[in-house]
Amino acid sequence: MLSKIDKAILQLDRALQTLTPKVAKAQRANPAHSETHSELNSSEIKHAAGLMRINHTGEVCAQALYAGQALTAKLDTVRDEMEHAADEEIDHLVWCEERLYELSSRPSHLNPLFYSASFMIGAGAGLISDRLSLGFVAATEDQVCLHLDKHMEALPAQDQRSRAILKQMHIDEAKHRQAAIDSGGYVFPAPVMNVMTHVSKVMTKSTYRI
Ligand SMILES: [Fe+2]
Ligand SMILES: [Fe+2]
Repeated sequence: MLSKIDKAILQLDRALQTLTPKVAKAQRANPAHSETHSELNSSEIKHAAGLMRINHTGEVCAQALYAGQALTAKLDTVRDEMEHAADEEIDHLVWCEERLYELSSRPSHLNPLFYSASFMIGAGAGLISDRLSLGFVAATEDQVCLHLDKHMEALPAQDQRSRAILKQMHIDEAKHRQAAIDSGGYVFPAPVMNVMTHVSKVMTKSTYRI
């Protein structure tokens, strides 16, 4: 059994791993590596980097949500599931970060802010109930899949390296959504999903540039 201090150190370690560039390590190869580099002009590079920065911050939020949820989960099975999903999300985080640097760009300066907010939301959901917490995962992944669809369309046509990353992320996120529902997560009603769409716009609008 871990003491409270051990748990706090683990949390801090995960936060630093997520927020410090080039520290996290992926388990799987970056899907971008199977695509060749293509010529992009300066405005295309800027646009692709803006989109990949949004996706990277989305993964920062995923790390924080899962960490918060794992902290307050009531059932061990739910906690294990949250921790396993967080490990898979690390791959996404690293892949997006690598692509950002390839595009001569960087992650968002707002990431610590989004990490803190998402951690609190995750911990709060976990405190209320595991089913709400799992429902929240499902709803979030649903939103992420919609974003990924839009971004795959919006990327410069020849930017197959970024697109390959988003494609694999989409496969994984849809799997995470289904797993959360299969484990008993609530399926949120449409009005709740609409609120989440509005909240996510705050993140996408700000991190495209900052
Ligand atoms: Fe992800
Ligand atoms: Fe996910």
